[in-house]
Amino acid sequence: STVFVLNGPNLNLLGLREPEVYGSETLTDIEKKVAERGKALGFLVDFRQTNIEGVLVDWIQEARTKAKGIVINPAAYTHTSVALHDALKAADVPAIEVHLSNVHAREDFRHHSFVSPVARGIVVGFGSYGYELALEGLARILAQSGH
Ligand code: DQA
Repeated sequence: STVFVLNGPNLNLLGLREPEVYGSETLTDIEKKVAERGKALGFLVDFRQTNIEGVLVDWIQEARTKAKGIVINPAAYTHTSVALHDALKAADVPAIEVHLSNVHAREDFRHHSFVSPVARGIVVGFGSYGYELALEGLARILAQSGH
């Protein structure tokens, strides 16, 4: 079964961008680890990144028919996007929100998330390992719901 792992703006710069906050791994390094962990859990991971808000909306809509669940790091759109909130509300598949950094230990503007109220679960502050934790959690949720 397919799981979408969706990444928002500037995450293509991981490894280069503020490594003291986000770590030295690149998004491609993370994609490899996540694909492996997914495989071990019986998931085919469809891993994507975009800098464009509407593209994230399109992908969330696509997940309705193509994915069993969504892991999403919406990056800065977390804190701004009603469109992502609405898309996830309509998605009909469980979504796990992931942030590499502990957003609550950072600037006030990172403390509010439009995504959290429509997420099934949230993983914050574990760096790239957070994506693996999110997949583990999703596997548990899907098993309990009989998928
Ligand atoms: C982030 C946290 C956001 O506040 C920030 O805008 C990002 C990355 C994280 O993974 O820690 O781009 O989502």
